[in-house]
Amino acid sequence: MKKKVVVFGSFVVDLTGRTPRLPVPGETVMGTSFAMGPGGKGSNQAVAAHRAGADMTLVTKVGKDVFGTVATDFYKEEGMDTSYIFEDESKETGCALISVDENTAQNEIVVISGACGNITPEDVEKSRSLIESAGILLLQLEINLDALYKVIDIAHEAGVTIVLNPAPAAELSDEVLRKIDIVTPNETEAQVLTGVKIENEADAKKAAKVFMDKGVKEVVITLGSLGAFAMDQEKSELVERLNVDAIDTTGAGDAFNGGFVMALAEGKDLFTALRYGNVTGALSVTKLGTAPSMPSREEINALYEKTYS
Ligand code: RIB
Repeated sequence: MKKKVVVFGSFVVDLTGRTPRLPVPGETVMGTSFAMGPGGKGSNQAVAAHRAGADMTLVTKVGKDVFGTVATDFYKEEGMDTSYIFEDESKETGCALISVDENTAQNEIVVISGACGNITPEDVEKSRSLIESAGILLLQLEINLDALYKVIDIAHEAGVTIVLNPAPAAELSDEVLRKIDIVTPNETEAQVLTGVKIENEADAKKAAKVFMDKGVKEVVITLGSLGAFAMDQEKSELVERLNVDAIDTTGAGDAFNGGFVMALAEGKDLFTALRYGNVTGALSVTKLGTAPSMPSREEINALYEKTYS
């Protein structure tokens, strides 16, 4: 039976400009196109898990404004549960200013969290029974940290498996990390949290051991061109990056996390789930945008079969 997935995280509206190259500080470059759409790491990961077939509920917060309706309209179209989309009385919906280099598919992002950076203790209390009933809770670092810590405490006490994607990079105390079951940083985030600079598989192993010494049970590190690495109490493995025609890498990490938790919720082991994450991330970079670029379960299954069977 599938475990229930709860994603507690950010929603922001992505304002994305494509450009022949990213500007250096102080420089203006002419862009070629603009798009507005649903984003935020929490929401993107929730959409990825939902499209991948997970039984998923998202908890997030928007403002009482037009950007807030971008979230609710999109979720309704997707057939997602909107019962835990809180509304802030005074704060505006967050937004992200994104520039995508159309030659390299790389991006630069500034996030203004707005309403989802103002999740109150009351919002968390209203979500308590949902969190306690989850099989897997997926978290990121784009909401206010006081709310995040309270959510972690509730889930930890209830014995819920906590998966933390520590993005964007921030320092976390050992007290917080010891309550996390699985951590899924990229190489930069892993370096911030462990002090280990990661350039190869041996470095990834070293960083994973630091996480485990802090009490994290299992570690997944996405390594860009090197692929993705996972380590549990018994073994570790690096799976190669998939070769696809990338046009926009924004949200690839979110796609990875959504596909990864979907597989865990279906009872797959860590290393199989890593492959589902890898495939979901690879498919997302072949389309423009973040949430709208998340692949369907059919697309995931087809690439998974082709790659790993
Ligand atoms: O991970 C990509 C996301 O980061 C974007 O959707 C943007 O909103 C920022 O939160």
